[in-house]
Amino acid sequence: MNENIFGKEGWTPERIGSLKGKTYVITGANAGAGFEATKVFLNKGAEVVMLNRSVEKSEVAIRDLKQQFGENAKVSFIKMDLAELSSVRKAAEKVNKTVPYIDALICNAAIAQVAKQQLTSAGFESQLGINHYGHFLLLNLLFDKVEQTGKRIVIVGSNGYKMGLKTVQFDDMNFDKKYNPMNSYCHSKLAQMVIAYELQYRIKEAKSDVEVYVCHPGASRTSLAKDEANLTTRIIFAIMSLTPMAQSAEKGSWPEVMCATENNLKQQAYYGPTKRMDMVGPIDQCQLEPHVLDREVAQKLWELSEKKTDCKWRI
Ligand SMILES: NC(=O)c1ccc[n+]([C@@H]2O[C@H](COP(=O)([O-])OP(=O)(O)OC[C@H]3O[C@@H](n4cnc5c(N)ncnc54)[C@H](OP(=O)(O)O)[C@@H]3O)[C@@H](O)[C@H]2O)c1
Repeated sequence: MNENIFGKEGWTPERIGSLKGKTYVITGANAGAGFEATKVFLNKGAEVVMLNRSVEKSEVAIRDLKQQFGENAKVSFIKMDLAELSSVRKAAEKVNKTVPYIDALICNAAIAQVAKQQLTSAGFESQLGINHYGHFLLLNLLFDKVEQTGKRIVIVGSNGYKMGLKTVQFDDMNFDKKYNPMNSYCHSKLAQMVIAYELQYRIKEAKSDVEVYVCHPGASRTSLAKDEANLTTRIIFAIMSLTPMAQSAEKGSWPEVMCATENNLKQQAYYGPTKRMDMVGPIDQCQLEPHVLDREVAQKLWELSEKKTDCKWRI
């Protein structure tokens, strides 16, 4: 059952006051929900540091944002390709050196519905590599900074966590046996969410006060699954985007903005649109299915992810 915390209209950016003096670090912000979230932050006077893989697209995005919010708008980017662990390390080092305060770290970037199995240079199925392993390493490298400053992490998940296999496929993480674009995308988003809730447990056990919030954009008209998906998927998504089952990218950004700014949100919760199977509609708390909170799976995935990304958490 969806919970109604923010009233009939749900959460909207009108609830946010001035964000002057605050800094948000967000992955994959040159397009889609990340770009729209950046607009909301800038509109409220905050600074945004985007962690983006494309220099060219980032420059275009910043030009566009400065046109809208003025030349003095505080928006910059650090190049980071989540598919490359060395790039994640380099970007995290730069963030640690140059960003004094992170009010919230938002893990937003993703690829989806990759038509044929592709592997990253580290040998990870590409969606798992970018969406899960890349962010897992980034979180590890920025955790101390987040803990010392704004103490907030936002994970952008997906309703895909309750589609597909609904568990982590430890015996075939790369889908070598039977690759399927939908299942492997859902697997990567489930992995991200399993780690998010496990991080909450570990933070509590370590008596740390970092908050981790999990959200999703419903079905939003972004550039997701446009380049990588097969023709059939692209046609289905294009048709769906014309129906009332889809909403604007702007609305799709609100759950992550809410999780980055709103007080008194819950842990072990899942925020996003709450109508039409949580695809569109007022932003509020959505039902969370229990399989994502399985700690046995989470701890196994955590250990595997530490090994695969060559990092060790202190919590
Ligand atoms: N749209 C939906 O209906 C929907 C539904 C459920 C969940 N989501 C989730 O919402 C989040 C935002 O997605 P979106 O819909 O806004 O998609 P989008 O428009 O495609 O934006 C994705 C962003 O991620 C970046 N990215 C992709 N691969 C990257 C990499 N290797 N390193 C760094 N950045 C990378 C993209 O950069 P480039 O421009 O360089 O590709 C882009 O900026 C994702 O976590 C997605 O899983 C979306």
